[in-house]
Amino acid sequence: ATPALADRFGREATDLRLSLTDFCNLRCTYCMPASGMVFLPKDQLLSAEEVVRLVRIGVEHLGIEQVRFTGGEPLTRPDLEQIIAGVAALEQRPDISLTTNAIGLDHRAARLREAGLDRINVSLDSVVSETFERLTRRPLLHRVLAGIDGARAAGLSPIKINAVLLPGVNDHELPDLLDWCLDRDLQLRVIEQMPLDADHIWERDTMVTAGDVQGMLAERFLLAPVSEARDGAPAELFEVADRATGRPRGRVGIIASVTRPFCADCRRTRLTAEGRVRTCLFSREETDLRAALRSGADDEHIAQIWRAAQWGKKAGHGMDRADFVQPERPMSAIGG
Ligand code: GTP
Ligand code: 5AD
Ligand code: SF4
Repeated sequence: ATPALADRFGREATDLRLSLTDFCNLRCTYCMPASGMVFLPKDQLLSAEEVVRLVRIGVEHLGIEQVRFTGGEPLTRPDLEQIIAGVAALEQRPDISLTTNAIGLDHRAARLREAGLDRINVSLDSVVSETFERLTRRPLLHRVLAGIDGARAAGLSPIKINAVLLPGVNDHELPDLLDWCLDRDLQLRVIEQMPLDADHIWERDTMVTAGDVQGMLAERFLLAPVSEARDGAPAELFEVADRATGRPRGRVGIIASVTRPFCADCRRTRLTAEGRVRTCLFSREETDLRAALRSGADDEHIAQIWRAAQWGKKAGHGMDRADFVQPERPMSAIGG
């Protein structure tokens, strides 16, 4: 066997998160500046063939088992079906998932599933249109809801919903949002906001914590921790029942990246849309693979550059350290 993607803290990356574009059709306040960004020109993005080759190198040479396509918004790539089909055709086929805002998914879910997409996670922070618009700066809630319906009709399952809570914006809607998800058999995951916003409004003191979330939900629901091993997954899972009647309703996840970090169990490596390895959301450096790809390097050479980059992965995000500095690029540019 070839050496895995190890780092000096004894972790091995088996999950690849690959950003397909830095472009997005929403402007979530916690992710992108109001003014938008200067997006990468198309020739800077990895092509479909390059993406498939890098994933193949990941699985054949580096022990990658799962790939998640992110962005920006990956559905804005017209060749997403082609990319997924190419990855699904690999001899060692990884698990293939997508993190998306679901806009336009109604028209593509069936084709994406046919191409080989296994699972999707949909980013949706509010089902109240005024709140959705305030948060995303676009009046497009109805399109997201249509996308979720389309994904369900195409048989994509499970569908997870990612909600980031912003103090005073959507946090008061949380019990209603959970009710809404449980009624539709969608698995809600409530996410602590991380300091990756372009406008630098994140504050440790005002952010909504996992503890706050548990308190807010306890008014309406009973939560019992799920005992299954977490196995490196970021979400802590809870069984949910109605407080008033005791009726079981399903599950909810809490992703406490800030207050209960899971960095010690991290199995992630990332590639940015322009083909640079980023070993952590909060890395200070990136390692280019695209130049090697485009200059005709062989697979093992590219694997070697990737391995060397991963070896430099930091122990953790270090958000609680006095010398913590927020990455220069916002989430949309790093890849969600
Ligand atoms: P599955 O558990 O396989 O469904 O996916 P996931 O939860 O890993 O992926 P998803 O894209 O849905 O991400 C969920 C949340 O995890 C994001 O909203 C981020 O807040 C957080 N997250 C994603 N990547 C990282 C990371 O590299 N580090 C940390 N600390 N948090 C991350
Ligand atoms: N903090 C936490 N999660 C974030 N996301 C985007 N920006 C942030 C942030 N600053 C989430 C999105 C999406 C996922 C990929 O990352 O909601 O679901
Ligand atoms: Fe776009 Fe996703 Fe960022 Fe929202 S969270 S602005 S949908 S990249």
